[in-house]
Amino acid sequence: MSYIAAANWKMNGLEADLEAFAAITPKDTSVILCPPATMIAPCRSALPDHIALGGQNCHEAATGAHTGEISPQMLRAAGCEYVILGHSERRLDQNESSVFIARKVQNAWEAGLIAILCVGETQSERDTGATIKILQEQLSLSLPDGAHFDNTLIAYEPVWAIGTGRIPTSNQIEEAHHEIDRHLQNTRGVSLRILYGGSMKPSNAAEIIAIKGVHGGLIGGASLKASDFAQIIRAFDEEARANQIA
Ligand code: PGA
Repeated sequence: MSYIAAANWKMNGLEADLEAFAAITPKDTSVILCPPATMIAPCRSALPDHIALGGQNCHEAATGAHTGEISPQMLRAAGCEYVILGHSERRLDQNESSVFIARKVQNAWEAGLIAILCVGETQSERDTGATIKILQEQLSLSLPDGAHFDNTLIAYEPVWAIGTGRIPTSNQIEEAHHEIDRHLQNTRGVSLRILYGGSMKPSNAAEIIAIKGVHGGLIGGASLKASDFAQIIRAFDEEARANQIA
């Protein structure tokens, strides 16, 4: 099985950085780069076709009087195949509710984009034993009917692990991915690929990608330097090769 390495550049990245990324040569791993909106067109010109592009957000309408917004139809026209939705930084900073996120996912699908839907618990939700309940609630409310293997990826991103250098134990990651999968099967009858996100880096990528139920990573900080991102991709390639041999 091949894995997915998705880079979330957040509000970082300039054209000068692209040369090093153009040299990344994955073997089996599917690579998705999600740069800031202004960098999508430069990325599409500078990067080889085997690096797919994604937006980091989109509007719930196709066009209209929405100053400062970008629709998924526009992302698609600029060369994107994916869009990250429901990231915790937007759920928290922009007060995006799960119901609101569902409308964006729906519109992203209508534009022909694959949604990378993020879910994850905060530290206090984990501390009070609410993790599974929160994941189920976020999935139920932010994923419209019609999700299937080819139009949606889920990213499990514990909020407390994002940008902190702290990662859950392997058991915690396995349990969360298992519960997400079980919930999707029970409520939607679908099986989706689930990425792990939160402080993934070259030194822990091999261990995380080997966890049962992890189909790839959504990588923030460690995706900003091409050499670090390339090392993570290499770890995914090696795990995929080990699986084929086993
Ligand atoms: P991080 O971010 O890898 O810097 O923790 C991941 C994310 O927020 O998608």
